[in-house]
Amino acid sequence: MSPEIIISCNHLTVAYEDKLALEDVTFDIHRNEFWGILGPNGSGKTTLLKSMLGLVAPVSGSIRVLGVAPANLGPLRDKIGYVPQHSQVDFNFPLQVREMVLLGRCRKMGLGKRAKKEDYEAVDKALERVEMSAFARRQIGRLSGGERQRALIARALALEPEIMLLDEPTAALDVGVTEGFYEWLNHMHSQLHMTLVLVSHDVGVVSQFVSAIACLNKTLVAHGRPAEVLNQESLEQMYGCEVMLFQHGRVPHMVVPSPAHQHEHQHH
Ligand SMILES: Nc1ncnc2c1ncn2[C@@H]1O[C@H](COP(=O)(O)OP(=O)(O)OP(=O)(O)O)[C@@H](O)[C@H]1O
Ligand SMILES: [Mg+2]
Repeated sequence: MSPEIIISCNHLTVAYEDKLALEDVTFDIHRNEFWGILGPNGSGKTTLLKSMLGLVAPVSGSIRVLGVAPANLGPLRDKIGYVPQHSQVDFNFPLQVREMVLLGRCRKMGLGKRAKKEDYEAVDKALERVEMSAFARRQIGRLSGGERQRALIARALALEPEIMLLDEPTAALDVGVTEGFYEWLNHMHSQLHMTLVLVSHDVGVVSQFVSAIACLNKTLVAHGRPAEVLNQESLEQMYGCEVMLFQHGRVPHMVVPSPAHQHEHQHH
């Protein structure tokens, strides 16, 4: 028996006013898979995550998450953790890490309700999972970029979700920290048996860890296992320019525009 389909896009087409952001996107995500969503700026990656959350509605086609249209998720919405691309958290606000993580439980606790024992337990567990227990009482303003990101993930984990959507979680991290972050994410995925959907620009690093990849450029250029998807043709179609791949085992480790393209770029 194949694993349960947890997210299903069927000819999904999304527009802002009359401009298409996603066009005819069809693919399925199964429970416990780790998907990497790749694509250049403006290719619809964030829009895809927003569609999964019901924050934008399809103009045609459909999307199902946990078997329902995302706009109708209701209480099932708590089964989805979301770490947005641009976090709305003001890190200058005088708040301890554990308090910020507790805010992630609000929807489950009910507005204005006092936190119960089970809520504090969920916070402790979330901090443990991101290896931030030692930072529980630290002011959020005194965290490094990588620690912030882990605290934001803990905030999303506080709802104990089955699906986790991460939009460019390494954007604020140093190159040196990024690979370690993905290794940690991969470890978390294997420990928690969660479905992960990770948006990233970083073909090389992502391809080492994910179980499947979707290459977006408004349309779905390619999708499947990394070794099948990451070839010259689909990457050039995705980026809209010639690329050079540096192999690292079976999957490309690094992708750069080919010198011919860079040259062209300088002269136009
Ligand atoms: N709220 C909005 N109103 C109008 N247009 C939007 C809105 N949000 C996104 N768009 C447009 O939709 C397209 C896809 O945007 P989206 O944010 O999904 O891209 P992205 O792949 O996440 O890009 P990036 O890598 O820069 O984060 C872009 O052309 C963008 O300008
Ligand atoms: Mg985006």
